[in-house]
Amino acid sequence: MEEKIKIRIEKLIAEINDHNYSYYVLDNPKLTDSEYDSLFRKLEKLESEYPSLISDLSPTQRVGHPVSSTFKSHDHTVPMLSLSNAINDEEINDFYKRIVKWLNNSEVNFVAEPKIDGLGVSLIYENGLLKRALTRGDGFKGEDITHNVKTINAIPLQLRLSKNKTPSFIEVRGEIFMSISDFNDLNKNRESSEEKIFANARNAAAGSVRQLDPNITSSRNLSVFCYEVGGSKDIEFNNQVEMLNYLKSAGLPINPLSKKITSAEEMVSYHHTLESNREHIDYEIDGSVIKVNNYKKRDRLGLRSRSPRWAIAAKFKAKQAESQIIGIDLQVGRTGVITPVAKIREVDLSGVMISSATLHNQDEIDRKDIRINDFILIERSGDVIPKISKVLKEKRPKNTERFSISDFKWPDPDCKIERIDGEAAYRCINPNCKSRVLGMLEHFCSKNAMNIEGMGPQIVKQLFEQNLLNKFDDIYKLKYDDLINLERFKDKSARNLISSINQSKKTTFPRFLFGLGISNVGQHISKVFDKYCNSSLENLAQLKIEEMKEIDGIGETVAIAVKDFFNNNENNYMIDNCLNLGVEIQPTNYDRSKLKMLNKKIVITGSFESLSRSDLKLRLENLGATVTSSVSSKTDVVIVGENPGSKFSKAQDLNIRIINEKDLLAFLKED
Ligand code: IVH
Repeated sequence: MEEKIKIRIEKLIAEINDHNYSYYVLDNPKLTDSEYDSLFRKLEKLESEYPSLISDLSPTQRVGHPVSSTFKSHDHTVPMLSLSNAINDEEINDFYKRIVKWLNNSEVNFVAEPKIDGLGVSLIYENGLLKRALTRGDGFKGEDITHNVKTINAIPLQLRLSKNKTPSFIEVRGEIFMSISDFNDLNKNRESSEEKIFANARNAAAGSVRQLDPNITSSRNLSVFCYEVGGSKDIEFNNQVEMLNYLKSAGLPINPLSKKITSAEEMVSYHHTLESNREHIDYEIDGSVIKVNNYKKRDRLGLRSRSPRWAIAAKFKAKQAESQIIGIDLQVGRTGVITPVAKIREVDLSGVMISSATLHNQDEIDRKDIRINDFILIERSGDVIPKISKVLKEKRPKNTERFSISDFKWPDPDCKIERIDGEAAYRCINPNCKSRVLGMLEHFCSKNAMNIEGMGPQIVKQLFEQNLLNKFDDIYKLKYDDLINLERFKDKSARNLISSINQSKKTTFPRFLFGLGISNVGQHISKVFDKYCNSSLENLAQLKIEEMKEIDGIGETVAIAVKDFFNNNENNYMIDNCLNLGVEIQPTNYDRSKLKMLNKKIVITGSFESLSRSDLKLRLENLGATVTSSVSSKTDVVIVGENPGSKFSKAQDLNIRIINEKDLLAFLKED
């Protein structure tokens, strides 16, 4: 009897999976919604009667238990890179010319695909089973969202059998998105229940995936399009077309609008056709992605630091709306740079209400002859701050007023504006400028820096005005008694803030360094220094400019800024204070298996048969190594390929360990 039930259950599961496949992958539904529901209910009923026969792969098991409090983060086996952009036809043509030139004028095929405006995901299947799903994160580490991704019916829990053998491992990349109609429905519902509405479909999809409770994600009707394979075992593809066909046969949705093309003209015409059809597509796209089809050619082209050379994202023109400038304000950033901001009559720009637009700098105001009271077109692409794309001079009213930063009367008499030599920007040179200090403090506390929850701009300002906060180390001197007497603070909020300050003390080198706000030292550069300096600020402070410039990814501007920062004793004193007050920098915990190259300084010379230099560099970096461009006494290993340059002889002179391609491959395989 049980055996029979088991077979019935398996049959129902197969029918439901077949339906999902027809619906999401073939775009050709075989069942009506009610037929599907009835199958699903039959399965649920049988499973409730025979709970021992419930399989993890049953569609009824897609929604599991909520996760406790945070998402675990995981390394990507291969970094998830981003794409460089082409913003007009000329840049698309340039991309084509570059590729053809680099590949010695050989014939090159491309695949063009829509650029889905959703959120990137990495899906890991082991022996055909969905094991893990990660967000893109910073490209190197993502958040584990498996519990939510399993609720997405478009994503198979098990790959379908296809003519290819099911690989023991495959990491598929794609974009999770919410259709525009589902997004509108969701917002309507939220509005009527007085919940905050989402600004756009991408935010709605991202918000849905970042839920602790998979029931919520499950109710949101998300979907996916897959477009790349990050890595695989037992299966290899020669090109993108072959790979996409495999994904489709394995039950993963691919975008039906992808197209093989061969010329620059076709690239441009694909892009424009897609742009003009944009409004008729029920999901958000923000451009087209054009990729070299052949994988060997991709390898030869290799990677830049954070994007492949073999692909480009051609962006659509930003959406525009008309409004009027009602005033101009100045904002001072944490580096003192002044940005003029236009206050505009509030206007709806593709679903987002906009009331201000950046004017960048005085040159921009002068060049475009932007005046207060002018009618203007504003535009916004992606999440960036809206900007003014055009002044509607034909509509210019009589009462316009010109604006000049240098005439601006600052409320603070100590503030002085100076134009930076050779730059369009004005800067406030008063080191105690309130806006500047506030900007620095806000930055230090922000999410990607010390991540002090509850210490937002308003609280920072309040504490600053109460003379409780001026430098970073003051944060760690704050006490409950300081807060409890202040307006807006009650027992609970004061306790919470002190507790989040204490929590932030256990931090990482990249967070702390990024928080210091040294100019041009962003999150990425902070991570580069972390690896090189072994998570030690002392090591960083001791580096000479020349040594820093040797590090791959660090240029002269950054090196000088870092040196200047550590040459200033006030800064060192402030850092020491932070450390004495309990800030503890945890050394970055690289995965054990990756430790084998941690902090090794490596130089590569010559070319390699089995892998491109850029891939090699990436693999070494993934093992914790720092790849530098020239050989010095600090170099640990020089990897020598065919036709090595002078670096080889220099390595021999300096008696540095030399590894050839064969030994290197054996070493890399040891994982
Ligand atoms: S390929 C190495 N193809 O765009 C390149 N990406 O700006 C890997 N995206 O992080 C990405 N549609 O999240 C690729 N058809 C498509 C895409 C696509 C959307 C996203 C993806 C990526 C970002 C890069």
